[in-house]
Amino acid sequence: MVWFSQFIRIENAMPTHAQEIHLIQRPAGAPSAALFALKETPLPKLQSGQILVENLYLSVDPYMRECMDEEWELGAPLEGRSVGRVIDAGDSGLDVGQLVFHREGWRSHAIVPAAEARILKEYSGVSASAFLSLLGGTGLTAYVALTRIAKLQAGEDLFVSAAAGGVGSAVAQFARLMGARRLIGSTSSADKARYLTETLAYDAAINYREQDLAQALAGAAPDGFDIYIDNVGGKHLEVAIRSIREHGRIAWVGAVGQYNNPEQAELPRNLYDIVGKSLRLEGFLVRNYRQLQDELESFAVPQLQSGRLQAQETLAHGLENMPQAFVDMLTGRSQGKMIIKL
Ligand SMILES: NC(=O)c1ccc[n+]([C@@H]2O[C@H](COP(=O)([O-])OP(=O)(O)OC[C@H]3O[C@@H](n4cnc5c(N)ncnc54)[C@H](OP(=O)(O)O)[C@@H]3O)[C@@H](O)[C@H]2O)c1
Repeated sequence: MVWFSQFIRIENAMPTHAQEIHLIQRPAGAPSAALFALKETPLPKLQSGQILVENLYLSVDPYMRECMDEEWELGAPLEGRSVGRVIDAGDSGLDVGQLVFHREGWRSHAIVPAAEARILKEYSGVSASAFLSLLGGTGLTAYVALTRIAKLQAGEDLFVSAAAGGVGSAVAQFARLMGARRLIGSTSSADKARYLTETLAYDAAINYREQDLAQALAGAAPDGFDIYIDNVGGKHLEVAIRSIREHGRIAWVGAVGQYNNPEQAELPRNLYDIVGKSLRLEGFLVRNYRQLQDELESFAVPQLQSGRLQAQETLAHGLENMPQAFVDMLTGRSQGKMIIKL
């Protein structure tokens, strides 16, 4: 299908089938792409209030690893964040060609109740994929962690784990714009450590696979830091509690280091230091902060348009490559937010 402007396209025949990725087997430990299969299914006629969306960009996210254990049905379409265009608006009152966000992911086309599709503003110079990275749940998570949970003040120092990932890359860029002083990030390879300091705004990078995390953090932040943004849990959290300054704040975003390593879930062993150091540790779910979407866009869009912010994305091409992209994201083979472009 060819789009010339927001609402004009060359009419092709309406698709009769959708391609979908199904989970066909549950993982034991780390997942592989072989647990998924590509299927073609007929698209039923639209019911009242439904729209047909041609998906353009699909998101793979760490929480999906947990869905594979139980929540996701085998042999059925999967849930996930998606950005696409309405190609049949039915009787919904939406316009054909509108850009929408919805959660019927892992497929080429989706039939979505119009009430569950969020119409996206199209900003000049900003790719629609940004609604899955800096302007999507990933960016909103970073924004909430900094502004509502850790309550970053100008001049404060931060430590961030999974620093090169979707949330981590957004945290660094947002924090710099908000006046943070020193940014320290951890990641899993020398290449990604260079990416942290050369492309992102980090002042120091720790390669937790090759360095002793506690020693490296002590070296990078001899006087500690004020805020820890925890994407990993386990050992990272234990070491951060040890190194953070008194009255520090920890925003617990996720525990990707624990999802395939249950022994990590037994850490941290020093939780009581939260009392001794007068720390605050707070977890949150981004879905409880959806009301901040407009605030995020007001903050981030002008910066994206001016080039001061960059949507850090690894694009994988084609639905058939989505399972491998998911595995690559979980195993640290992406930089910034992993997105599938259809
Ligand atoms: N609370 C919420 O509402 C919310 C919303 C969105 C995301 N999250 C959480 O935020 C975190 C980051 O999500 P994201 O979407 O931005 O993913 P991401 O960081 O782009 O991708 C996951 C990264 O985790 C790191 N990782 C994997 N295994 C690890 C291990 N054993 N130890 C340490 N790091 C490991 C890898 O980076 P390295 O190569 O650097 O190790 C990998 O690239 C996740 O924990 C996710 O569940 C929470």
